[in-house]
Amino acid sequence: MFGPKSHLTTRDNHLFIEDVDSVLLAQQYGTPLYVTSERRLRENIRAYHRAFPHADKYFAVKANGNLTLLRIAAQEGMGADVFSAGELSVVRMAGIPQEKILYNGNSKSEMDHEMAIQANVRMSVDSREELEHLAETAKRLGREAEILFRVNPDVSPKTHPKIATGLRSSKFGIPAEQVAETYQRAMSLEGVKPVGLHCHIGSQILETAPFAEAAGKMMDIATAVVAAGGEVQRIDLGGGLGIQYHPDLPAPTPADLAAAILPILQDRCRDLGIAPKLILEPGRSIVADTTVMLTSVNVVKRAHVNFVAVDAGFNVLARPMLYDSYHHVIVANKAAQAAQEKYTVVGPICETGDVLTKDRQLPALARSDVLAFLDAGAYGFSMASQYNGQPRPAEVLVCGDKAEVTRRAEDASALFAGQRILPRLMF
Ligand code: LLP
Repeated sequence: MFGPKSHLTTRDNHLFIEDVDSVLLAQQYGTPLYVTSERRLRENIRAYHRAFPHADKYFAVKANGNLTLLRIAAQEGMGADVFSAGELSVVRMAGIPQEKILYNGNSKSEMDHEMAIQANVRMSVDSREELEHLAETAKRLGREAEILFRVNPDVSPKTHPKIATGLRSSKFGIPAEQVAETYQRAMSLEGVKPVGLHCHIGSQILETAPFAEAAGKMMDIATAVVAAGGEVQRIDLGGGLGIQYHPDLPAPTPADLAAAILPILQDRCRDLGIAPKLILEPGRSIVADTTVMLTSVNVVKRAHVNFVAVDAGFNVLARPMLYDSYHHVIVANKAAQAAQEKYTVVGPICETGDVLTKDRQLPALARSDVLAFLDAGAYGFSMASQYNGQPRPAEVLVCGDKAEVTRRAEDASALFAGQRILPRLMF
């Protein structure tokens, strides 16, 4: 084990999550299975509160939309960043108050706008064009929508290209030089009230420098907005703080992030004579390391490499296939055993790309062994699919020595849900 993961220990050769034996969980609930530590989730949230006592923290729901976890985030004082009407419904169900929700998105329909306006939720507006559409809808409903502008700060975050979102070439946000003018336009429109600026430069960022650069650029833009007569009450820097997936790749902490950005924001806001509320939208750094994904070995095949076929593929954990991402693996029932051989772990999906890890050194494996993929809490279940007729797995929450199902596993009926065979084809 690496890093301070106090919720994961080895006892009697088994991997424990808090005080629960993961091997027993696999037997009791079946695999694949997502298992989350409540203690770790609360610790991660509190680390953000300590580092940023005066900021609002909006949990990025796309990372994990489990209602129980969202309820815990709400209890711990987090708001939510939502990216769709569906995510908005989920966080409201979890009890996150409307004033602590930001509805983001680069492609919102009229119905999405209506839903956010009716729910009295602030929105992040991604373009000049969206501004006009939104103002029309709000006017029609006789309401005034508070909005932030999503800014494209043109910062390179040194992460996987598919998850770098603040580059000039990315689809997100308003080009920096258009923001002040767009703000002014919003001030002249009925139906909208511009209250701030928003950016998100990317995800799994392992240095603080890009965040400092983004903070500086946001303050440049805030300066132009203030010069144009705008009021900047909120500055939202998005999420993106990386985590240590790999033993050799440490990640900055929320406190490191605070040390990198707060002095810049404080100095520049003082010079500008404004005192905006800072907002952060962490997803991964709140939830990734709270959760392991358990999967059982079906076959160990000696071919040109040692293939280990498990019961979870990219249908359950898509990240390795999508981003070549590394997840540390512990053999849950051989947790104290030394690595012996190299294995390529593959899933049950009918595609060659269905590889969870290549050439990983692990203890000698056999059928029914249980592998734990660590740091699976962010973009794990939330990106799972039913591809190849695979119902999605259950999720369990561990608290001390208690384990409770928070989402039951789907069965085959989930594959038929919402479908019908057309009556005219029944005979
Ligand atoms: N705010 C906005 C507007 C975002 O688009 C995102 C993530 C976040 C906050 C949260 O970022 P985080 O703190 O989790 O890095 N599926 C990919 C990650 C996609 C991230 C998309 N946006 C993965 O599995 O690595």
